[in-house]
Amino acid sequence: MEKIKILFTEDEIKARIKEIAEELNKKYEGEEVTFVCTLKGAVFFFCDLVKEFKGDARIEFLRVSSYEGESSTGKINLKFPLKAESIYGKNVVLVEDIVDTGYTLKYIRNYVKEMNPKSYVDVSLLDKKERRKVEIDPDFSGFVIDDLFVIGYGLDYDQKYRNLPYIGVVEK
Ligand code: IMP
Ligand code: MG
Repeated sequence: MEKIKILFTEDEIKARIKEIAEELNKKYEGEEVTFVCTLKGAVFFFCDLVKEFKGDARIEFLRVSSYEGESSTGKINLKFPLKAESIYGKNVVLVEDIVDTGYTLKYIRNYVKEMNPKSYVDVSLLDKKERRKVEIDPDFSGFVIDDLFVIGYGLDYDQKYRNLPYIGVVEK
């Protein structure tokens, strides 16, 4: 097994999620929110974030893929769609694991907005700002990171390492 360098511990992730949740709790006080998880990478972040939400929450799931190995192809495949009626007229918070080139978030944002939600924001746990190929930023992000390939806490390298409770970098 490869050596893994820890970038964010479980406690650091939890603390940052509480801060993001506080902002969402303020923003949506008294309103219902539909949280949309982008599978598979965002799944642990999604669960931890939604549990911190104090209002009424619905949950929905979406799966797209673009990645093969370590490089983004820019071509997005919709593998598991949303139902339009679960988005129409709702306050939607789209939850992503990481924004890298930005192709995926751009695709998802358009896709969800076309279903006419009442409101829309996206939250990404990680943001590799310097890797961007299209001009897009998540409305909320947990941590801005350097150009590193990260794994753990839902993030994979060829489907491995998702179960690690922290976020790390594989040392080669
Ligand atoms: P983008 O379309 O290039 O922004 O890529 C976004 C998707 O690629 C994310 O939702 C992740 O699934 C995956 N991805 C990008 N960077 C990493 C990484 O460092 N580790 C694991 N997956 C990544
Ligand atoms: Mg992803």
